Amino acid sequence: MADCQQLKAQFATPSGVEEAAHRMADFAMHHKREGRRVVLITSGGTKVPLESRTVRFLDNFSSGRRGATSAEHFLDAGYAVIFLHRHRSLFPFSHRYASLNWLDALQLVPSEGPRQEEELPSGSCLRVEVVPKVVPGLVPLLQHYQLVKEAGTLLPVEFNTLSEYLHLLMAAAQALSPLGNSAMFYLAAAVSDFYIPASEMPEHKIQSSSGPLQITMKMVPKMLSPLVRDWAPQAFIISFKLETDPTIVIDRARQALGTYRHQVVVANILDTLRTHVILITQNSKTDLYLSEEEASCGKEIEEKIVNDLNARHTAFINQN
Ligand code: PMT
Repeated sequence: MADCQQLKAQFATPSGVEEAAHRMADFAMHHKREGRRVVLITSGGTKVPLESRTVRFLDNFSSGRRGATSAEHFLDAGYAVIFLHRHRSLFPFSHRYASLNWLDALQLVPSEGPRQEEELPSGSCLRVEVVPKVVPGLVPLLQHYQLVKEAGTLLPVEFNTLSEYLHLLMAAAQALSPLGNSAMFYLAAAVSDFYIPASEMPEHKIQSSSGPLQITMKMVPKMLSPLVRDWAPQAFIISFKLETDPTIVIDRARQALGTYRHQVVVANILDTLRTHVILITQNSKTDLYLSEEEASCGKEIEEKIVNDLNARHTAFINQN
């Protein structure tokens, strides 16, 4: 079992953590005063370096879509959201255009007004316009995003490496502790289970001339254990369990609940990730599906997950 001091000894504090910790603490206190619940969403994969002057690293498939989409639905449900996400993984609102080349979405048109003009050598003036059909739904999305920005209910915090993730999770738990049971942890990030300690890592780029690569990696301590037990014992905590084998996923999710004794595990299978999840608690199992028809209307399974968890969180607060 890992505690704070052990973790700090194993993973040196990266720069920027202290500043992010202050931002998270201020955000949490502000929304506590406003009477809002706060959810910490973790999102995206973690990068584990193989060399200290890193050229190569171990990564995983997570795109951050689950976290980014869920963040939007939590905002709609009235939560303030700390979005702890992997640098350059998908982001709330903008993820809908993640595969877009923005230069294809913009066009130059002759301009008469003085604003946003760029004078060309020929003396003609041009301004930039969006091509609406290349970015469908942009106006309502932008309005939604701007409302969220004005309300100050979304705090993005970035990590890149495993070590940054671990330290920021600890700092977030500390920031949210004054909220007690109105805080929720929604741990959708795909965190590496393996790493190479700094003391055992080669400094320079591993040479292919030395032949096939053999590395031994250490186990990353499970953060859920100290999070549930020590860092946020009053909070409503949801972990995720991803498996590729559908025959083991429920057992693995139940095992996690039994070991860590938190509130909910969201189990999902790689092949059906976007259309089926199973919410497991100590005494219930709830399947949520997204039908083809719902998907074709632009509905997302995260809306169902968030609605369900919001109701469970209310019941949890009332019980406690
Ligand atoms: O990002 P997307 O492409 O949308 O994909 C979403 C997802 C599949 C990544 C997401 O839905 C998901 O399932 N995330 C968890 C992936 C997983 O199975 O992780 P795990 O089995 O390694 O960990 C299970 C839980 O333990 C996680 O909630 C994790 O936060 C936690 N954990 C993991 C490692 C670690 N050292 N400490 C932890 O506490």
